[in-house]
Amino acid sequence: MTIRLCATDDIPEGEVRQFAVDDGRTLAVYRVDGDYFATDDLCTHGDASLSEGEIEDGKILCPYHMGSFDIRTGEACAAPCSIAIKTYRLAVDGDDVLLLD
Ligand code: FES
Repeated sequence: MTIRLCATDDIPEGEVRQFAVDDGRTLAVYRVDGDYFATDDLCTHGDASLSEGEIEDGKILCPYHMGSFDIRTGEACAAPCSIAIKTYRLAVDGDDVLLLD
């Protein structure tokens, strides 16, 4: 099922925003070098919102303990994170960012 998440302009370049999906999921959606990516918003290490973190070199730094994940693959990149974050496929259609998963 395809769901419209937001407008392309809702996320400034190099930033991340939180979006709630009607089915209950809360996602962190990233804009990096003009491309859009999405992961679960909840860190796999603790009760932190990744959309409140900082993007650095294609990674999202968790605001709680500064663990990190690769935005594209979800791979855990820095301790204390060790469990990958779930990623979601997105598409851009005109001015809309669509969630494909
Ligand atoms: Fe994210 Fe600990 S809660 S690194």
